[in-house]
Amino acid sequence: VSRTATAALSALGRRIAEPPISWLMKQTLEHPGLISLAAGFTDNPSLPVAETSKVLRELLADSGAAQVALQYGSTPGDAALRQLTARHLQALDTGRTTRNVSPAWSPDRLLITHGSQQLLYMITEALCDEGDIVIVEDPTYFVFLGIAQSRALRCRGVPLTPQGLDLDALERLLDSLHRAGDLKRLKFVYLVTYHQNPSGLTSTLANKRAVLTLLRHYERRAGHPIFLVEDAAYRELRFGGKDVPSLLKVKGAESRVIYAGTYSKPFATGIRVGFGVLPEALFTTMARIKGNHDFGTAHLLQQILVGALASGRYDAHLADLRVRYAHKAAVMKAALLEHFPPFVEWCEPDGGLYFWARLPGRMKTGRQSRVFREALAGGVLYVPGELCYADDPSRDKPDCEMRLSYGGASEKLVPEGIRRLGAVIRAHA
Ligand SMILES: Cc1ncc(COP(=O)(O)O)c(C=O)c1O
Repeated sequence: VSRTATAALSALGRRIAEPPISWLMKQTLEHPGLISLAAGFTDNPSLPVAETSKVLRELLADSGAAQVALQYGSTPGDAALRQLTARHLQALDTGRTTRNVSPAWSPDRLLITHGSQQLLYMITEALCDEGDIVIVEDPTYFVFLGIAQSRALRCRGVPLTPQGLDLDALERLLDSLHRAGDLKRLKFVYLVTYHQNPSGLTSTLANKRAVLTLLRHYERRAGHPIFLVEDAAYRELRFGGKDVPSLLKVKGAESRVIYAGTYSKPFATGIRVGFGVLPEALFTTMARIKGNHDFGTAHLLQQILVGALASGRYDAHLADLRVRYAHKAAVMKAALLEHFPPFVEWCEPDGGLYFWARLPGRMKTGRQSRVFREALAGGVLYVPGELCYADDPSRDKPDCEMRLSYGGASEKLVPEGIRRLGAVIRAHA
């Protein structure tokens, strides 16, 4: 941006940094033949082409329904999609597939958004002013960190354990915020609770419940509710283990929990329809913000999902998808066993799109590191772990990890990418 143009920018416009995602995509364009294990893209051949074309054909064959679909919709979203989504969530949480939905999953508190990304952005608009504090997982979803950076939020990271957030560390942080007089600036805790991006970990219900209890304890001192955002973007891409209920199932939690869901990963990333189940006290504010953004997510795209969900094609597609990702994860695992030296730690995900690998601390993986530059030169791209850590002044960012995705790269390229990366790591051992 030129100097004269900069003078015209808002504080946010001046502050906003290049999103890592744009930088990573630029690397892909600048290095032809690169195998990207970085992108969180879904698997192209798995996308529901036949299902979508059937749903669209049926929809467009009925001129009345087609006219409705091709018209603006309403700000909170299509009534049928909100109902189907609420029912779907209740079924995920309880196993009950009844038509009636209990108040915990009420469609009246459900807002359809343009991807869950829009919901995440709107949450910061509804709750946060510059300088407010958000607690995130260490590591966390790096695109959320971009939102926080541009909006001048202070992020504090709490380490992750295999069960979820480290509860002792969370309590210590809440206590230190209280002692520093900062608790009133803490607005919400952001958790990616299923097959987390980037670590692959799933939080247990007991852990999530304990986080909520701690927040409730401290909110008396904060003087306002402290919300908990449960981002469940990868929930339905589970191919192992048992499904864990969301916090919506916990009695009384609905006044504090914001459940962020999406149809991107389980159906089509190009349709980009997401949703939030919001506490009643936030719904009107969030709907007004949505009204100012776009007064409603693209109606035709919502209708595709209504058709897919109501016809059962969504569930059938998801069953295939799970098998496919289980297979791709197994392909990556076999390649890691074959090509990565044993001093690299990684654990096997039971859903989602990612392996998270940790090198010994002395081996840096960041954008400026030799490992990263040589991997690029050798034709493979990963997400440097450092990008997934908030700018938390109380600790240094770990810089020896990498996120490896088996989502976008083909079955043939996944092992080749891991082979190339393994060779770089061995050369630096
Ligand atoms: C953890 C997490 N949340 C939210 C999103 C946003 O997805 P969408 O806007 O497509 O729903 C993503 C996308 O990669 C993600 O990884």
